[in-house]
Parts: sequence; structure tokens; C-alpha cells
Amino acid sequence: MSAGPFDLGPSASLPEGGRLCGRAGDVEVVVLRLEGKLYAVDGLCPHRGGLMGQGDRDGFRLSCPLHAWCFDVRDGTAFFPRGQRLGVHEVFERDGRVLVGPRVAP
Ligand code: FES
Repeated sequence: MSAGPFDLGPSASLPEGGRLCGRAGDVEVVVLRLEGKLYAVDGLCPHRGGLMGQGDRDGFRLSCPLHAWCFDVRDGTAFFPRGQRLGVHEVFERDGRVLVGPRVAP
């Protein structure tokens, strides 16, 4: 697999508080713009593969729609259950496009 970065779409399609779902190589990702900054996390929950892009969000907290595991999108740490992690990816904008790079954590 190429290391990317992978183009998820135009910056204009990701307003403040919005999210973009797509693929970065062979992994599903979700990109969110919160307080003016971009965050990219794995699109599949580490529990049983729930679609994180369909989960509820409260601030930086993103919940899985299946069994409510929830994670801090800033660093992937879990609020519940403690000790779990969601993968975090490099993400940036260039020439009006949202680009996602490799997983940086965990
Ligand atoms: S699949 Fe996400 S909490 Fe179970």
C-alpha cells in the first residue's frame, strides 16, 4: 500500500463541526473540523467495527453508534472503556483539498 497522503475531498465540504468519511489507502477514516482544526481517526471502531463516521459527537468526543464506546478524536484515547484506543492519522489541507496520511497513533 502507498503511504499517501490520500485525498478525501474538497476543504469546502468540511465546514466547522462537519465530518468527511472515506478511505486512506486500505483503511476507513473519518475527518472532523473542530474549533478550526482538522482531526482524522479510524473509521471502524476497534470493538466490533462500528462505523465511527455515523456516531454522535459531543465536543471532541466521538461515540460508536453500535455499543457507545467513545473516544477523544484529538489523540484516540477512550473515555469509555478506559484503556482502549482509536487510531489517529496525520491530516492536513493543501490546495483546497483534505489530505490524510498514515496512522500516527496508537
Ligand atoms: S462496535 Fe463500537 S462499541 Fe461495539
